Amino acid sequence: MIQESSIRMFDLVMSLSEAVDLVDQSVTNHHMQVAYIAFSIAQELRLSRDQQTELLFAGALHDIGALSLKERVDTFDFEYNLSDAHAELGYKLLKHSILFSKIAQIIRFHHVHWDNGKGQAFFNHQVSLGSHILHVADRIAVLIKKNVFILSQRKEIISKIKENNHTHFHPEIVQAFEGIAKKEAFWLDLASKSIDSILLNQCGIGLVELDMNRLIEITKLFSKIIDFRSKFTASHSSGVAAISEKLSMLYGFSEKESQLMRVAGYLHDIGKLAIPTEILDKPGKLTKEEYEIIKSHTYYTYRILERAGLHQIKGWAAFHHEQLDGKGYPFRLSGDELTLKSRILAVADVYTALTEDRPYRKGMSKEQALTIILSMVEKRKLDSNVVKVLVDNLEVIESTRNQAQSSTLEEYDDFVSE
Ligand SMILES: [Fe+2]
Ligand SMILES: [Fe+2]
Ligand SMILES: [Fe+2]
Repeated sequence: MIQESSIRMFDLVMSLSEAVDLVDQSVTNHHMQVAYIAFSIAQELRLSRDQQTELLFAGALHDIGALSLKERVDTFDFEYNLSDAHAELGYKLLKHSILFSKIAQIIRFHHVHWDNGKGQAFFNHQVSLGSHILHVADRIAVLIKKNVFILSQRKEIISKIKENNHTHFHPEIVQAFEGIAKKEAFWLDLASKSIDSILLNQCGIGLVELDMNRLIEITKLFSKIIDFRSKFTASHSSGVAAISEKLSMLYGFSEKESQLMRVAGYLHDIGKLAIPTEILDKPGKLTKEEYEIIKSHTYYTYRILERAGLHQIKGWAAFHHEQLDGKGYPFRLSGDELTLKSRILAVADVYTALTEDRPYRKGMSKEQALTIILSMVEKRKLDSNVVKVLVDNLEVIESTRNQAQSSTLEEYDDFVSE
């Protein structure tokens, strides 16, 4: 079995990138295409290896700050000029991370027009060449029509980009693009279903293997990208991660296993990226179809983690809505098919969720939550032993959880502040 210690940065970032584009068919592959174009332009301009990698990852993540489906779709208008709010939020999500701080800067200004040179700065901030490359790459990508053969579109796309040379776009970058655009292969790659493996083979970079500390750092960052889309879940995964790790330690798992359980907690709802916030945050009663859409999130968690190479933890993380009696979803597992680690995560998730506010109800007290959890044990939904460990150690578990969640909430406050 592949061990979680040999996870590659490329796979982790690209799996998140693909996840963000699951939200609607109209945005499928957008991040991957922008990553490919930005990387190709950086290569054509002979930027350094590091800068090429930064552009690749900036392309792969550039719209993570567009939280709702509407915002995502709005950015697909070529003349998009509404606001730079999603670029600023993307920057805020990434700026604290040592690994992503440069990428955050590139993303921050990816909608600034060149404006005959005035675009070198934006409200007293310097705008890097990287941001202008990302801007061009993004605008090329939004011009691609999904239902027209790619080579039949290239003339039109090239002329649209040239039309806006100097005004929207930096002339040196447009020139580099024209160089690449001569190659049919560039366009065929863009339209390819295997664009991610093409990119991986071409870049030969970003293949840094992650140690446990890095894995924790990155997945904690991912948990914020997942949770900050809705104020109701702002610190949900950080609570689930803390409780899962603590319960694992109380069970006597090794330090590494307990840390991996924390990682599983950070990522258990990553499939929610595939669900529009319009549904996640809907205040009223969900329609049957909306409920089915929400329920698909754990299916996507499983597939996304598989894509990321996180084979050991994908089941721990993705089975948190399965139930021992087989009536959970989406794999309909039961009894022995659910390992102790999946059972722990399920309990951590239910307990955290019940004690948090939701759009349709207030958060419950510890006591109310435990009453519900005990009734779920009786109905063979949750593991009785795991619940016993939770109840017996509630105080210490609560304090670890509160610590984790309050520091995440501080970051959330910064995220939503002007
Ligand atoms: Fe954007
Ligand atoms: Fe975009
Ligand atoms: Fe969930």
